[in-house]
Amino acid sequence: MRGAQIVDFKKEQLLSDVYRISGAGCRSFFVIDKNVYGLYIDLFSELEDGEYYIYDSDEENKNIYNVMPIYDALLKGGYQRSDVLVAIGGGIVGDISGFAASTYMRGIRLIHVPTTLLAMIDSSIGSIDRDFFDILEQSSKLNPTEQRREVAKQISLAQSLKRAVVDGDLLDKGARRALNFGHTIGHALESLSFGTDLIKGHGSAVAIGMCEMMRLSHSEKLSSLADLERLERVVSSFSLPTSIDISNQELFETMRKDKKRAAGLNHLVICPEIGTYEILSLDDRELQKFLNG
Ligand SMILES: NC(=O)c1ccc[n+]([C@@H]2O[C@H](COP(=O)([O-])OP(=O)(O)OC[C@H]3O[C@@H](n4cnc5c(N)ncnc54)[C@H](O)[C@@H]3O)[C@@H](O)[C@H]2O)c1
Repeated sequence: MRGAQIVDFKKEQLLSDVYRISGAGCRSFFVIDKNVYGLYIDLFSELEDGEYYIYDSDEENKNIYNVMPIYDALLKGGYQRSDVLVAIGGGIVGDISGFAASTYMRGIRLIHVPTTLLAMIDSSIGSIDRDFFDILEQSSKLNPTEQRREVAKQISLAQSLKRAVVDGDLLDKGARRALNFGHTIGHALESLSFGTDLIKGHGSAVAIGMCEMMRLSHSEKLSSLADLERLERVVSSFSLPTSIDISNQELFETMRKDKKRAAGLNHLVICPEIGTYEILSLDDRELQKFLNG
């Protein structure tokens, strides 16, 4: 993918905003979430057949086979390297489109039009920036209506935090790893609960992952009980779970398949103090010991 962009757009001007951002002379191909398409069908009435693909956002459909129809449509429509793929939907459409854009013709530009809260803020809500945590903590003391309004305001702050971290570490070798806080355990829990209703969504899995990492690092005396309790309070105040009943052995086996594992090591982000991070690089024996507390 070349030059990923996250855009602010007005719903009514969606297509014209996208065309403006794409630039003159460039064509745009749209991958649109099925439910979003159904809800906002009028917004897409100008699109011709062959200019868009409707994606059924189900976790089971998030695989390479469902990228093929996008390549087919791009090839059939004669889309070139200078053209743009536009992803309109949640995290699933974003991930699938990101993969398609980064591989079609060795990479074309991508515009994300995120339509779910998770897609808008991505994993940046899981970043451990102290100011952002403080804001979330304050928000949790508001009533639900005020809370929703306040959290909505924080979306752009979360985006800019993530952008700053990612732009400063394009190769994911340094500070960007902090964004993975809670994700190694979170992803393992998502795999383990696939097809069940044990965990409701990525946010819940990462919430448990963050709390579990704080619990484990606290039991290793790498972080304080006060910070663990503070994190659990904030997570619970957003009606997110803080724990789950899964055996350490199952967790260990699944974490060994983590996509960020390299050279036999899992790189876990711990939070020694809210607002700080450290990476623990653990081999299998160390990981098992760490999980057993
Ligand atoms: N690439 C990353 O960094 C990253 C980070 C976090 C999560 N993810 C991935 O994101 C996915 C989850 O994304 P998600 O939570 O955005 O959900 P999603 O894309 O699965 O969408 C959830 C549901 O909401 C519907 N939907 C989307 N927008 C809507 C709207 N505006 N109105 C009504 N319905 C709408 C979809 O059709 C779907 O049924 C997971 O596959 C996860 O792995 C990726």
